[in-house]
This record gives sequence, C-alpha cells and structure tokens, in this order.
Amino acid sequence: MTHLLNTYGRLPISFTHGQGSWLWDKDGNKYLDALAGIAVCSVGHAHPRLVKAISDQASKLLHCSNYFEIPLQEAVASKLVEYSGLSAAFFCNSGLEANECAFKLARKYGHDKGIEVPNIIVMKHAFHGRSIATLSATGNPLVRSGFAPYTEGFIHVEEQNTEVIREIAKNNPNVVAVMFEPVQGEGGVIPIDLHVIQELRQICDENDWLLMVDEVQSGMGRTGKWFAHQWAEVKPDVMTLAKGLAGGVPVGAVVCSEKAKQIFKPGNHGTTFGGNPLAMRSALEVINIIEDEKLVENAEVVGKRLKKALSKSLNGFAGVRGIRGKGLMLGIVLDRDAHDILDSGLKAGLTFSVTAGNVIRLVPPLNLSEAEADEIVSRITPVIRAFLAQPKI
Ligand SMILES: Cc1ncc(COP(=O)(O)O)c(C=O)c1O
Repeated sequence: MTHLLNTYGRLPISFTHGQGSWLWDKDGNKYLDALAGIAVCSVGHAHPRLVKAISDQASKLLHCSNYFEIPLQEAVASKLVEYSGLSAAFFCNSGLEANECAFKLARKYGHDKGIEVPNIIVMKHAFHGRSIATLSATGNPLVRSGFAPYTEGFIHVEEQNTEVIREIAKNNPNVVAVMFEPVQGEGGVIPIDLHVIQELRQICDENDWLLMVDEVQSGMGRTGKWFAHQWAEVKPDVMTLAKGLAGGVPVGAVVCSEKAKQIFKPGNHGTTFGGNPLAMRSALEVINIIEDEKLVENAEVVGKRLKKALSKSLNGFAGVRGIRGKGLMLGIVLDRDAHDILDSGLKAGLTFSVTAGNVIRLVPPLNLSEAEADEIVSRITPVIRAFLAQPKI
C-alpha cells in the first residue's frame, strides 16, 4: 500500500547512492546513469566539491528571505549574465516556475504597450511544464487532457514553420512573444533548425516581440554550448533554466536581456524559496565545476563520440529511424512505442528514459568520460536489438 498520489508509473528500483555517472540500488546492483535524473545531475553524483559546498552552506545559512540582500544570488546571476550575454536574472525553484515567470514578463510587456489580451506564440510539440499556464502552453494532449479550461493567450504553431508566424504577425496585433525550446526534450529530442531560430529572432525584432527560449532541459552546457540557442548565434530576450543548473538541488532561473530586464517592478513577481542561500551556493558550485572541468567542451566532444558510435552500431538496423540531438542530449528514434524497453535497459545496468513514445533519450552527466560513453553504446545496443527483434505490437 502506498501513501503517495498516483502520479507516476514508477520502475521497481530504488537507488541508494551514486558516484560520478554511476548509481547503486538497494540490492547492490550498479547502473551506468544515462538519464542523470532527467538532465539534472549535470556534474554527476556526489561530486566532492558540490557535496562540500552544500554541507558548508547548510552549516551556515539555508534560507533567509528575499526581503534581504543575498550576495550568492548576485554571484550566480553574474555568471549567467557572463555566459549568456544577457543582463539580469531572477531565481525560482523549478522549470515550470521559470516559465510562468517568462509568461508574466511577456504579458506585462504587452500591457505596458497597451495590449489588453497579450498572446504568446508557442510550438505544437513543446513541453513547458505542468502548472495550469505551462500545460496550456504545452502541445502534448497527454499532458493537457483532463485539465481544461486552459489558460488563454497561447497560439500553438508547427515547429520550423516561420511562414505561419509571419502570417500571424500580419493579422494579430496582440502577439507579444514567441517561446520555444531550442532542442525539444519531452517532444522527442528535436533540435529546432538554426536558421529557424535566426528567423524567429528576426521576426521578433521586426514586430517588437520578445524572443523567449526555454532552456530548462537544453541549457547549462548540455548541448556543448552553455545554452543551446547559442549554436544559432542569436540572443533571446528571455531565457528560462532549471534542471542542470544546480546539479540536483531544485533551482530555476529566468535570465533577461536589457530590454526584458526593465519589465518587472518591485511587487510584480516573487517567491519564498527562490534563490535562497543553499540553492545559490549549489548553483554557483555547479557553474564553477562546469568551468574548471571544462564540461561544456566535454559535453560536445563526448556527445559527438557517443552519437557517432550509436549511429555506427544502430543505424540501418530495422526499426531504428535515426539518432538525433546535440552534445549529451541525444535521442534514438525507433519505429514503435518503446516504453517496454526500460526494464531490459535496467537489467543491462543502464538508466535512460523514453520520450514522445518512441524516442530513447540519453542525457547523462556532463562529465561522462569517453570510456563511459562507449560503455553506454555496448550496453544499449543489444537491448535495442533484442527489443526490435520482438514482433511489433
Ligand atoms: C523544456 C522544459 N521546460 C520545462 C520543464 C518543466 O520543468 P519542471 O519539471 O522543473 O517544472 C521541463 C521538464 O521536463 C522541460 O523539459
């Protein structure tokens, strides 16, 4: 009997501890972690520097309140500003909270311009979270269904189709922003074309809209750049972050351009826990580790090797449609629903997830070694081959 709400179809494994890219369950079995808590444990498990920073901060001050100055927030904000080229940050506790804040920024931006019912353009296969507003901005019917009425003010468009957005610009004066994930995670590890990202920047400039990127999953070095939109060499007005930002301590952030920084005034937005000293010390240490250990570069190099090796061992195999993604955010696309493969993955000592039904998602820690990348390939290849050898249901 469980006393938990029935929200997850959990796998029957319980982990007791981890080290680097490895996890152990309560029976002593060892797993190579190609999931990293869904792109969260960016510097691996039990990184000694992060453990030390968290313990030290816990012994000093966990929380005070945003009524007071929190110098650690300034320190994390200045790192995010430095790496993004943007201007200012706000801290919260999760991805959906960061996106809620972005939506509020866009709406307030509209109201300040005299637009009473501001609209935000979002993508059909986007995932922005599970609160009422963020699920309303999410395309996936599985996430949305059962939760109507939805929050109004979102226009869902097909990815990669900038023509449709140009048409909307001509006809709808209420649009204030476009929001998208540079690499869609829950949508099936789908990178948005770089020229589309560049064109979206251009459309936003022409129409005085905000360009908002949801980098909750793709940010913090995962794709081999600090932020995935940087592959397109554009700057957004608003960027949301969470997951890998503090390596497992729940932290979200909204980073704003000089223009978007002007929108909020005191009283417009806030949170009790967001940016507390424990959260900020963790985020700061994670960023310092990413810098010192060159993990952005590692994600690119090891990610390329992993993708190449996966392509070599799986491409052309009946049932494998292809390997896509960037850096250490990769998807193996199958021709069928793949949820039943998770168990055999665990039996082979490997954690990963399945997203969008038929995409095996690999988002290991950013400090994955080349040998560990090779080990992922040798563990996952027979699992996928055996799975595909079964009759297709
Ligand atoms: C791109 C993206 N945005 C937002 C979220 C929601 O983040 P959280 O689960 O921290 O609320 C997720 C979570 O998977 C995500 O991948």
